[in-house]
Amino acid sequence: MIAAAEVEEDDVLCVRACGRNLAVFHIDGDYHVTDDRCTHEEASLSDGYLQDDTIECPRHQGVFHVPSGKPMAAPVTQPLRVYPARVEDGQVWADIPE
Ligand code: FES
Repeated sequence: MIAAAEVEEDDVLCVRACGRNLAVFHIDGDYHVTDDRCTHEEASLSDGYLQDDTIECPRHQGVFHVPSGKPMAAPVTQPLRVYPARVEDGQVWADIPE
């Protein structure tokens, strides 16, 4: 999906895969893959503010816990979809259901 080295530590990138925009996070040596679109309204979370293991939406400052997708701060109430991620041969992969 994307070379692991492209996603710097404590950073997030948007990747187009399987017909959707995904956010690939690199946090404390682990990679996490979620939907890039905020569950509140139209906004790209990869443009947001990553602090520790939370991402703040750039539009209304809703906050999600990245590893679980749990909403942490209003106005977001719906969890963020999280996809199991792994690194193989230097590439980040995620299990995306059809
Ligand atoms: S669009 Fe993300 S908090 Fe509103």
